[in-house]
Amino acid sequence: MKNIILIGFMGVGKGSVAREVIKNSKYMAIDTDDLIESMENRRIKTIFEKDGEEYFRKLEKSVSKWLQMSVQNTLISTGGGFYKQTNIKNIGIIVLLDSPFDAIIKRIKEHSNAVKKLKKRPLLADLEKAKELYDARRPEYLKLADIVVDVNGKSVEECSIELLKKVKRHV
Ligand code: S3P
Repeated sequence: MKNIILIGFMGVGKGSVAREVIKNSKYMAIDTDDLIESMENRRIKTIFEKDGEEYFRKLEKSVSKWLQMSVQNTLISTGGGFYKQTNIKNIGIIVLLDSPFDAIIKRIKEHSNAVKKLKKRPLLADLEKAKELYDARRPEYLKLADIVVDVNGKSVEECSIELLKKVKRHV
């Protein structure tokens, strides 16, 4: 079993889909943001505030090296900017969770923990800038992805079933 790497914009539901996939498969799941938070023993938000985005990207780089060397049979969900890691193709099959920007924002705002979800993501603080980032990244996500799952209007269960079906067909 190759690793599956979930990429996609902030708030698209990478964590929720990953949790659903592991219920229905033999994969274990890890999350690059969680790894960084435990390496540093502090929140992503604090890392951005205290040391800036560039420092955070360096941490993502060390995580990507470790993943390539040491991780197998795992579903890896990633932060929205992790796709820029140059070795990402060597880590596993890349699955993009795709959704229009407005649907992502609606999904976050309707969540019971909306305030927390927005607060923990420094790059979502300004929605106009976040939309620009989305527009710049989406073609890059699409170019990189081996598999695309359109999550818009689908439940996490439906996304998980589609993902596993497409991964099976891909390998
Ligand atoms: C980022 C996305 C975040 C987190 C950090 C930067 C990005 O992860 O890694 O705030 O550059 O898009 P999520 O995609 O899980 O929100």
